[in-house]
Amino acid sequence: MIFHVLTLFPDMIRDGLNTSVTGRALASGRIRLNAVNIRDYSKDKHKHVDDYPYGGGAGMVMQPEPIALAYEDIVKDMEKRPRVIYVTPQGSVFNQSMAEELAKEEELVFLCGHYEGVDERILEEIVTDYVSIGDYVLTGGELPALVMMDAISRLVPGVLNNEDSAEFESFHDNLLEHPHYTRPVEYRGSRVPDVLLSGHHGNIDRWRREQSLKRTLERRPDLLETAELTEKDVEYLRTLGWTKDK
Ligand code: ADE
Repeated sequence: MIFHVLTLFPDMIRDGLNTSVTGRALASGRIRLNAVNIRDYSKDKHKHVDDYPYGGGAGMVMQPEPIALAYEDIVKDMEKRPRVIYVTPQGSVFNQSMAEELAKEEELVFLCGHYEGVDERILEEIVTDYVSIGDYVLTGGELPALVMMDAISRLVPGVLNNEDSAEFESFHDNLLEHPHYTRPVEYRGSRVPDVLLSGHHGNIDRWRREQSLKRTLERRPDLLETAELTEKDVEYLRTLGWTKDK
């Protein structure tokens, strides 16, 4: 997976991705990063990339040409037009299935805006996907792009050292994950549940499944609407007071 990021803050992108799991994935070459500074493509002698909005109003707008030139430099060697994700609070809200879909691409381009916005004409020209990371407004698109690249990277084969860990996790079957415990058996008077010490794998699996169901009902009941539930799951949820059409 190659991530190309069009940004005014390439160091923020590099530093963010160069840490921890994604940092190791960069070092091993399983993912690659091309952080492109839009300012390098400004033809202005002061390297300006923004200007006042036509029609008036507060703030500055990023100009189309530096972005177009930076984009053209990225795509000149590509065989097909890549997906270009403009990170914006006006986009569809990012989720795990979008991460899974995007992880299938070989190359992705992220466009990070700043100031009040980006000239609409360059968005119409190059953007294929408008994506938000949630209903709040940040100062720029760099953190959202990092969030998305992190979620996508961990789905790239070989990025997580335990092949299973991307499978069994929050949002598997659209349920939240069960709780985890490690040593010591007793911590400040609180014990690890006996079933986990029993060595009985059938009981452990069932207990974990029920914990997932219970946790999802308590914390994210909306997810149960689309979760993949067995008859046994539904039976268990009913003992907790869940009814299907609530
Ligand atoms: N840019 C500013 N806020 C954002 C958000 N919530 N999601 C994506 N991009 C953004």
